[in-house]
Amino acid sequence: MKSIYVLLVGIVCFARAVNQITLSPSNKSGYNHNKETNQLIVPSVVSQSENSEVDGPRILQPTSKSVLDKKELFIPESEWKVVGENDILPRGGLDIRINMETGLKEAKLSDNKVSEMTSSNDYSFSIQFKEIYELIAANDYNNVLLKLDDLLEFVHDYKYGQEIIMHEWASLSKLMLDEQLPTSLREIVTRLIVSAMRNNPPVISYIRDHSSNDLVKILFNKIELCSDLVLLKRYVTFLQQFLVPSQITSEDLNILYSILNKSSDKQLKWKSLHIASYFYNDGQFIDLEHDSLWFNQYLTMIEDVSIDEYHIRLFFNTLYEIKSHYGNDIKVPSSFFNWLNKQIQTRENADDLNERDSEQIDFNNKLKDSRYNVFGNPMADRIKHFNDEL
Ligand SMILES: *[C@@H]1O[C@H](CO)[C@@H](O)[C@H](O)[C@H]1NC(C)=O
Ligand SMILES: *[C@@H]1O[C@H](CO)[C@@H](O)[C@H](O)[C@H]1NC(C)=O
Repeated sequence: MKSIYVLLVGIVCFARAVNQITLSPSNKSGYNHNKETNQLIVPSVVSQSENSEVDGPRILQPTSKSVLDKKELFIPESEWKVVGENDILPRGGLDIRINMETGLKEAKLSDNKVSEMTSSNDYSFSIQFKEIYELIAANDYNNVLLKLDDLLEFVHDYKYGQEIIMHEWASLSKLMLDEQLPTSLREIVTRLIVSAMRNNPPVISYIRDHSSNDLVKILFNKIELCSDLVLLKRYVTFLQQFLVPSQITSEDLNILYSILNKSSDKQLKWKSLHIASYFYNDGQFIDLEHDSLWFNQYLTMIEDVSIDEYHIRLFFNTLYEIKSHYGNDIKVPSSFFNWLNKQIQTRENADDLNERDSEQIDFNNKLKDSRYNVFGNPMADRIKHFNDEL
């Protein structure tokens, strides 16, 4: 998909008469040239990273150049805005063009989406949801699953996602938790919700502003008792997007730890560590006993070869916080120093490629300094003792 898009950009730059590319979220029939408006129309670009985020972190090697690039979410507005080289575009709902004066890519919210939002009380999906609620009332769950499945494609769209959540959150949030309903139905409802939240900050704000105060407690209770791995992962994904550091309690973390400790599912471990990182990276701690357990989980997962740069930074910062807080009370195994040295070396070799990325440079320096200042290098210690003995 990406190569087609790059190719199209090439064509656009070459044929100057064509000056606008529209990404259309709902047209599955491929790209075509619209003669009337002189626009190239391509289906929504769904990048690998966006796609796989539903189920887990991107599986990328830490050493490749693309991973070291900083990704940021592009927030569209009603006016044209320049898209940065590494920006992540929301799926669909956008007009995208190449500005011929600057040669830069620009994007804005689609005009039709803006007017749809403001035109009437009924919105694009009111009929579908009315049907869904009637089918649930009639216990016709198979048809509910089919209809919700159809909607999953639209809920990724920046504007449709907002429309659906703003109209349906009150109902969807009840369905998500309703033990009377089949697990498969709760799972798909939760999947719909977390898909709408992804890369869509207005959806997340809306949900935070319109949820009962005990939602987090209820969810952690469900998580503790949940025996279905897929539903469990959806609930944890919801919390991962919903929680802010100040909301997380040590009881919540203990529940999360017992899930993580029991499971062999890597995605679930990653997600649980991600949530705990909000807590620790905010400077909060439980006690030495519990925090060392988490510390050891971070040590294990950061050495996993399939971890990506985002999680390396997040997990490393957490290891750094916990070790800084407890000092010598927390022990670091030598395998971690091997990992750390390898990271520092790899990053030094890649340095010339990334000179413009100051966040990357700061992180690389933090890795380097921490070897002596925070984690304390046992090799350095041994050399010191050796010298003392001479
Ligand atoms: C979708 O694709 C069809 C067939 O190629 C085309 O006629 C139609 O104009 C497209 N619609 C949009 C919105 O791109
Ligand atoms: C973690 O799992 C191990 C083995 O499965 C178990 O012995 C241990 O008690 C668990 N730890 C916690 C804190 O749940």
